[in-house]
Amino acid sequence: MQLSILKFPDPKLKEISDTVKEFDSSLHKLLDAMAVSMYAANGVGLAAIQVGQPLRMFVIDISWSEESGEKKLYEFINPKLHDGEGKIVFEEGCLSVPGVTEEVTRKKHIVVDFQDRHGKPHSLVAEELLAVAIQHENDHLDGILFVDRLSPLKRRFVRRKLEKAITL
Ligand code: NI
Repeated sequence: MQLSILKFPDPKLKEISDTVKEFDSSLHKLLDAMAVSMYAANGVGLAAIQVGQPLRMFVIDISWSEESGEKKLYEFINPKLHDGEGKIVFEEGCLSVPGVTEEVTRKKHIVVDFQDRHGKPHSLVAEELLAVAIQHENDHLDGILFVDRLSPLKRRFVRRKLEKAITL
């Protein structure tokens, strides 16, 4: 099932999501629907809050950027990011902020602890685009959009652009 994706300035996008406690079939259904919705929108990541569910989880698939063309779906539930290393600047966009892309500086290497859809704990070392995507999606769990990570000057510029876009 395809879910509709909340768009800025929906106040729900500012919510802090809750820890996932039930790893049941309704959770699996939601994760499946999130993946379908992400692919349908040509996104590389989608957090539960973007479809209105304040749960600490997101899906990611960055495989479009690789040559194989094979899908590789990641599901991160209750992620915890550890201190990262290095810096990477990447031009980010967000399914909840359509029409805007801006360069954001993130950690280049990260370690993330998380649970899978059955509640089993895992740890993953990620770098480059996967690390960027995890940090972007993890921000959604704390109500942070990538435009909040921009310099104040750039943020004002983007905000003006967005305000114009939604009043037209
Ligand atoms: Ni996003």
